[in-house]
Amino acid sequence: MNVLLGITGGIAAYKAPDLVRRLRERGADVQVVMTASAEEFVTATALQAVSGRQLRSNLWDKDAEAAMSHIELARWADVVLIAPATAEVMARIVSGGAPDLLTTICLATEAPIALAPAMNHVMWNNVATQTNREILEQRGIHILGPDVGSQACGETGAGRMLEPDRIAATVFSLTGGEGILLGRMVVVTAGPTREPIDPVRYLTNRSSGKMGFAIASAAAAAGADVILVSGPVSIAAPPRVELRHVETAEEMFAAVHEVIDAADIFVSAAAVADYRPAKCAAQKIKKNDESLSMDLVRCPDILASVARLQRAPFTVGFAAETQDLKQNARAKLENKGLDMIIANSVGADTVFDSDDNTVSVLWAGGEKDFPLATKQDLSRDLIELVAEHFYAVRSTSSQPKLTVISNND
Ligand code: CTP
Repeated sequence: MNVLLGITGGIAAYKAPDLVRRLRERGADVQVVMTASAEEFVTATALQAVSGRQLRSNLWDKDAEAAMSHIELARWADVVLIAPATAEVMARIVSGGAPDLLTTICLATEAPIALAPAMNHVMWNNVATQTNREILEQRGIHILGPDVGSQACGETGAGRMLEPDRIAATVFSLTGGEGILLGRMVVVTAGPTREPIDPVRYLTNRSSGKMGFAIASAAAAAGADVILVSGPVSIAAPPRVELRHVETAEEMFAAVHEVIDAADIFVSAAAVADYRPAKCAAQKIKKNDESLSMDLVRCPDILASVARLQRAPFTVGFAAETQDLKQNARAKLENKGLDMIIANSVGADTVFDSDDNTVSVLWAGGEKDFPLATKQDLSRDLIELVAEHFYAVRSTSSQPKLTVISNND
């Protein structure tokens, strides 16, 4: 695997030689690209020695460009990792600027990009940095950490770079090269559906799609071929995920059933409408009367229809509940005939658009609670658990059923 390691100017850059060593121990070829400010924290000599490759830092280095241009570097990379990633480089990637070699490569690459932020905790929590983090995640860029703990500035909080070994392990899983779901096909649904009332109005819900997208991304990082069927959301397709857009529950049903025969695992994270207007008015409905009533009819239950298939994939549902979370989730697990259910509580005081989530996963023989974590981190753990149960079910004739309880958006 070819890792292009970008190093930016933070004190955690002193850990970069160790990170290079950890990546190489796992069999990666590592090409280091440093920014000018990184050179204040770690020497080119050390990095060249551990990487075994000529270090690159200057976009205008004619000899180096002649040997391998910045575009060739961008193509060479199987993954671009920036560690440590400063607030400045996050902002620059968000803006799409390319004033130096590293950000130019970020614009020019089609490989997955991962950032391991490292900065003072106040800088990390600054609204500008958090907004940039959110935008980067929406674009499918992986944010690894940061850790919480004592910092070089003497303060304590979130902003420490993750330990090199953890970064190396995660980066390896991002390319799917040695992932637990290598060769498996995973279908995921995400987001809300829109059920038309008339040409300008529709019924929908508050799902942001973040959880489903994070799960699709984690499954792809684990090596799976992933098809993500999503209702209307404003998130870009994660790397290595085939995204299919739909609007209504009927369209989502059709899109899922078009591909489900080939699926090993189905994860239903979408907040599908349960009811839709019986008919969509041809023209905009006028406000002629004091009150208006509308006939609603049931939408197809996509999850239950997949679980009922004769050759059903390992089927994982979500249970979005406002009360009696585990009890209701377990009932859904059983009633819909699922292998697992992920339960999350939703409600007025739960932020649907949140980046964090806490869930419980239930299956026929047990359950597991997951503490509050980012949807990206949580999804990696959920995919691991799903894969573990998927393989266990395949190796036995009796299929255990699993239910996950969580806040799915
Ligand atoms: N689901 C589905 N199709 C529907 C409704 C729900 O595939 N028409 C899936 C969701 O993606 C989720 C699971 O069913 O994985 C449970 O959804 P939830 O909204 O929690 O429950 P419902 O089955 O809709 O039941 P209720 O609204 O009565 O709680």
